[in-house]
Amino acid sequence: MGYADAVATYLAFAVDKGSNYWSSLCAWHSGRDIIMSTFARQALPMVWDFTEANPFSSSSGNILLGISQASQMLDKVPASLQALTRQLNATETINNVNHPLICTDPPYYDNIGYADLSDFFYVWLRRSIGKIYPDLFSTMLVPKAEELVATPYRFGGNKKDARRFFEEGLRRTFIRMKKTAHPEYPLAVYYAFKQSESDSNIKDGNGNSAVASTGWETMLEGLLASGFQITGTWPMRTELITSLKKSVSALASSIILACRPLPEDAPMTTRRDFINTMKRELPPALKTLQQENIAPVDLAQSAIGPGMAVFSKYSKVLEADGTPMRVRAALALINQVLDEYLAEQEGEYDADTRWALAWFEQFGMMEGPYGVAEILSTAKNTAVGGLVAAGIIISRAGKVRILRRDELPEDWNPATDKRLTVWEVTQHLIRVLVDKGSEEVAADLLRKAGALGDVARDLAYRLYTICDRKKWAQEALAYNSLVVAWPELVKLAGQKEVKGPSQQQLFEG
Ligand SMILES: C[S@@+](CC[C@H](N)C(=O)[O-])C[C@H]1O[C@@H](n2cnc3c(N)ncnc32)[C@H](O)[C@@H]1O
Repeated sequence: MGYADAVATYLAFAVDKGSNYWSSLCAWHSGRDIIMSTFARQALPMVWDFTEANPFSSSSGNILLGISQASQMLDKVPASLQALTRQLNATETINNVNHPLICTDPPYYDNIGYADLSDFFYVWLRRSIGKIYPDLFSTMLVPKAEELVATPYRFGGNKKDARRFFEEGLRRTFIRMKKTAHPEYPLAVYYAFKQSESDSNIKDGNGNSAVASTGWETMLEGLLASGFQITGTWPMRTELITSLKKSVSALASSIILACRPLPEDAPMTTRRDFINTMKRELPPALKTLQQENIAPVDLAQSAIGPGMAVFSKYSKVLEADGTPMRVRAALALINQVLDEYLAEQEGEYDADTRWALAWFEQFGMMEGPYGVAEILSTAKNTAVGGLVAAGIIISRAGKVRILRRDELPEDWNPATDKRLTVWEVTQHLIRVLVDKGSEEVAADLLRKAGALGDVARDLAYRLYTICDRKKWAQEALAYNSLVVAWPELVKLAGQKEVKGPSQQQLFEG
């Protein structure tokens, strides 16, 4: 009987998989000539010209594919250990285990309507395996009232009430976790959420509006208010980047926070001391993240971890007026230290690259007045003529602009370039990798660029940050893609070197 139930359950997964391709919300992917699934993204958008799949065909949406995927999963994840799963409301009960080890991946406001979206599958599962799991399928639709989500329509359209419900619920959940969690093991929180907004009340060191993230702020406020401190953070690749998600704003990583109870005698500190400690402790952590090729799109949220580890080791950080610093202000300061860290890397660049960076920040790839270019070149200790000779800019009729990547010479060779700059290395790598799509050629350029390669990657982080702030999405994507491809390029560049004749071969030859 148990065996038959197990088989029925896995067959129900195959029907699930099928129904993802059998709805009137499946669009046609004209580029790849395939049917797209209903949940190509986590939403149910209207599709006017939907595609009908044939479950008995051999193409996408065929029932056998669902069955083979379910069985492949079984092969890969053998059920050799016993496990018990229960559906419980985390706000009210964790479970009935004494001092559990807790790993959690909390929801983020109304980012994804899990319960609403789950109804799509629930109605079919209830019909097929509802009798096997009567407790799980006791309701007509997925339970909604307990769900921690900030959906205004559940509160008569009131956005404030929806937010309050979510924020208070999350806080209650963390307090409950703090009370029950095993004291010897850290609480692990998985978090991946990129939501930037400007808060005009918070200023960075230059008096500009600072950027804070409400999702992070709420989660961290909840964690710290319940008496946890953050003792470690790791970015982990968790997100499958599908073609629809390939926008620059899609994060590739989750940040895993290890949290432990804050000791009762944790010290207080001042804003000034907090900033000084962060300036000491954050840069080495950021260097490690860069060396591990964290995608630029993930760098800002990855910096929150080590920054918050500093903030949360104090019982309070006191502002100049004696009030405790809010998480929001701490997040703005972390961003500021990150900015300074990236700006300090300018010391590694040649004068021409420093000029190009400052110009790019002001004009992007657009034209600007010659006079401005000349003043900037004096400040950066270079000359407009030299920048033209270096192959970075074009200057004519009183106007100057940076050369677009499609204008750069295809036969460029860093080994023979007479005025080699970091700017060119970064741009040419993107030209061949992203614009031309050749990893092999890019790896060859990287090998020839030698020691400038790593500096070119650092420049890509800085350029990504500028583009992200300015909302130049397309250009930002190029720099992100270069860093994401970096490990592969380094590997290919290394292989090339090995393929060349070794000293021994030359000697023997
Ligand atoms: C970010 S998702 C976690 C996704 C999960 N890691 C996965 O890969 O499938 C957040 C989850 O929290 C669940 N959730 C929301 N409110 C809850 C509550 N009150 N009790 C328990 N879980 C809840 C949502 O249904 C959703 O599945």
